[in-house]
Amino acid sequence: MTLRRKDLIGLEDLSRREILSILDTAEAFRSVFDRPVRSVPIMRGKTVVNLFFEPSTRTRISFELAEKRLSADIVNFSASSSSLKKGETLRDTAQNIEAMKVDMIVMRHSSPGAAAYLANVLDASVINAGDGAHEHPTQGLLDIMTMRQRLGNLEGKKVTIIGDISHSRVARSNIYGLTTLGAEVTVCGPPTMVPGAMAKLGARVEHDLKSAVADADVLNILRIQLERQSQMVFPSNREYSLLFGVTEDVLRQTKPDCFVMHPGPMNRDVEISSEVADGPRQVILDQVTNGVAARMAVIYLLSGGDPGQLGAPAA
Ligand code: CP
Repeated sequence: MTLRRKDLIGLEDLSRREILSILDTAEAFRSVFDRPVRSVPIMRGKTVVNLFFEPSTRTRISFELAEKRLSADIVNFSASSSSLKKGETLRDTAQNIEAMKVDMIVMRHSSPGAAAYLANVLDASVINAGDGAHEHPTQGLLDIMTMRQRLGNLEGKKVTIIGDISHSRVARSNIYGLTTLGAEVTVCGPPTMVPGAMAKLGARVEHDLKSAVADADVLNILRIQLERQSQMVFPSNREYSLLFGVTEDVLRQTKPDCFVMHPGPMNRDVEISSEVADGPRQVILDQVTNGVAARMAVIYLLSGGDPGQLGAPAA
């Protein structure tokens, strides 16, 4: 199924068919990675600009690789050396870039709603690479792709997300995408990070880690945003680690085939112990590999690409 939309702002408004179409297309691209030549010429002549206003390692490199593997022309924008420093607005900056005839803008920004705002004022496609605490849709897609590779159909599967849910764009995109595919999501953390109102997103709220992990098929562990510690959302890193850190001891309380994910960057021995982060149950680097394929799929489909031409099943 082709995506009949210009932009990808979040997973909240994607249908089950759209998500499955992206995942199937991503699997078709994933198979290209094992070939001697990992690129395909299907975005030749298209131009993508990567606008990153916040630090990023995985998402930025992953988008850049995805664009290169699709043979697009790419430009990387550096906010710190741009005319934003002279007071130019985001809208003027983006419209000037668009006037240079670009087809797509990938943007990470600290303000929730920034990607939707640009999508409304530009004719070019906009992909949200993370907007504040709102959504990180391609992270959600790569996480769901990684779960689906191990669990198959996600209907009825149990996913526990642990951490600062209320400030996490990764958690939001996971909850929206997973519940649309029929998975049962539990969110776990201290009440300051996981208020009861998070249940409105469609997830079960649990403040006791042992109860939250007991019947889980997957644990998705979020980064503790140490920069928020000035707001005292938990007493200390040690306190958080003792109550909510995922250690070998916690894994012993899960089902034997429950596996562990983390979107990165990790705070080792805070939210996840080094033994778990490097252990046999984690699939963290598989997530990173899948990220390139998931982003190739999103770029291709937003450009009007037909998954059938890649041999992906019609969703
Ligand atoms: N997972 C993720 O968004 O990582 P980066 O901040 O390094 O892009």
